[in-house]
Amino acid sequence: MRKKKVNIIFQPCGKRGQVERGKTILEAAQELGAAIESVCGGKHTCGKCKVRAEKGRLSPLRPEESKFIREEEQKQGYRLACLAKLFGDTLISIPDEARRYQQVIHKEARKISIELNSAIKAYYVELLPPSLLEPLGDFERLSCALANAYGLKNLKIDYPTLQNLPQRLRSAGWKVTVFVWMDREIIDLQPGRFEDFYGIAMDLGTTTVAIYLCNLKNGQVVATGSMMNPQVPYGEDVMSRISYLMMNPEEGLQLMQGRIIKGLNSLIQSTVESVQLSPLDILEMTVVGNTAMHHIFLGIDPQPLGLSPFSPSIHRSLDIKARDLGLKVHPAANVHVLPIEAGFVGADNVGVLIAEAPYQKEEVSLIIDIGTNGELILGNKQRLLSCSCATGPAFEGAHLRFGMRAAPGAIERVRISSTNWEVNYKVIGQEKWKDEGMAEEIQARGICGSGIIEAIAEMLKAGVLEKNGRINGNLSSPRLRKNENGYEFVIAWAKETAIGQDITISTSDVRAVQLGKGALYSGAKIMMKTLGVERLDKVILAGGFGSYVDPERAMVLGMFPDCDLKNVFSVGNAAGDGARMALLNREKRLEAERMARQVEYIELTTHPDFTEEFINAMSIPHLKDDFPYLKSILQEKE
Ligand code: FES
Repeated sequence: MRKKKVNIIFQPCGKRGQVERGKTILEAAQELGAAIESVCGGKHTCGKCKVRAEKGRLSPLRPEESKFIREEEQKQGYRLACLAKLFGDTLISIPDEARRYQQVIHKEARKISIELNSAIKAYYVELLPPSLLEPLGDFERLSCALANAYGLKNLKIDYPTLQNLPQRLRSAGWKVTVFVWMDREIIDLQPGRFEDFYGIAMDLGTTTVAIYLCNLKNGQVVATGSMMNPQVPYGEDVMSRISYLMMNPEEGLQLMQGRIIKGLNSLIQSTVESVQLSPLDILEMTVVGNTAMHHIFLGIDPQPLGLSPFSPSIHRSLDIKARDLGLKVHPAANVHVLPIEAGFVGADNVGVLIAEAPYQKEEVSLIIDIGTNGELILGNKQRLLSCSCATGPAFEGAHLRFGMRAAPGAIERVRISSTNWEVNYKVIGQEKWKDEGMAEEIQARGICGSGIIEAIAEMLKAGVLEKNGRINGNLSSPRLRKNENGYEFVIAWAKETAIGQDITISTSDVRAVQLGKGALYSGAKIMMKTLGVERLDKVILAGGFGSYVDPERAMVLGMFPDCDLKNVFSVGNAAGDGARMALLNREKRLEAERMARQVEYIELTTHPDFTEEFINAMSIPHLKDDFPYLKSILQEKE
């Protein structure tokens, strides 16, 4: 029996349509393309999907909703979109806080020197046409010419390329440029001398996706493109996506893989067209991504990653034809997927590894790649360790009362006076700091990850916060207040915001950040102990988020152990750099394979020292460890 349909309209975006009766508001929004935040992926734990039913019939309020919706709001029709089911035609209003805004993505290609040795090589040959005296087959004729001119032996040919070979050779007058993959397989040929050919390096993040379009002849990045990962509506972090798959075993994987492939195809199309190229000009691709994104991209069920022992389906790198993945580039193009280190240390970390190459240096480097998960690498040319830390989503702005992704309106920089506790801040999308303009012009909407790090570090420096993470209740400031959940500190007054409420940081927000930073710090500490070092020579902050983190404030917060701030660097999207290196230099693929096997993975959750290290690392910056470099900085400021 066909299920009855109901009409639904979302305001203010105006998306409307019919969905099956009994679906949740969130499912309807996903179907109709209305952007509602769903940080926990519909597990009823984040409260970010709070919307208002203006009209219509919904399922009765569930007890779980009362945790996020006050009595007064319940009377006004507020509901959690992931719980309320549609029983009749409905009009839904999505308040500003629940609207999913596009994250600001800066994944510019860093200037790095890469020795050019692409997997694709172009060879120009002129052939003698066949004759009765020399009736050799077209493929053999081409192979002989390539062997004679360039020493290529034992060549294969892509099957659809073979199907077109007779016509292509003849129409080109037997003068062609042949594109050969790894000096093993002919994948395409073009008439005459064909100078430029292209490839794409791709960084498949949980929240954002970046692509780098490169000229494979000279190594230049000719265009970059980025988008939000189209799987975001199914959960903000990896575990939420895996939970979504568990809850939707039949069609979940196909749906999520389909979404990312469709999204990539349109991103590739718009990026290549921006420089007057065609997707068919793309002859090679490389891909990095965390293990869950890697599996979903390949259509492999990532559910085992969510359960102990968190093992991936495959560790080694893969070479797959683009057409087999449904990618609309040259159908014979090879997609090289970099290897995986461990369940939660994926191909993105391998990208970071080959981009930074700590294994070539004497100095001991700590590389922190902060995304929705924290991945750490520590070591030098003698030994290399890695681990993964469950940082939680706090650094992405989630699970905080006023947390939000790094989108326009998010507070990203914070300064707090230690004399009168006045707050100055800057939001994404505006050049001026608050005290340089009119308060009403600011229109802050929440706080993103870099903003929360700065805010908490500044609160500590100004005496608003104690080392243990408690808000100082003795402060004489109108910004300090107490409610039923404890103390909170006002960062932005309601009149400065677009949401009509004060933006505050509460003790529980501080706690969420302490959990994340404690995990990072204890991971670093356990690796340092394993390696037998007491001090770090260098700290590298990688990842899009890493580029925005202020190193000094990150150290005040205790995200990593003490290090001379002159040796703390942000390197931007190092995973994307690694993908680019593997695209432009095939030797880097071998290096990636070797290093992925060589790096020693430490499982933190079962490590005997983890609990003690974690408890110590919960203090800001740390309960026991000293910070000589930080001390001098704090004294300078006094
Ligand atoms: Fe509804 Fe998280 S509570 S998506």
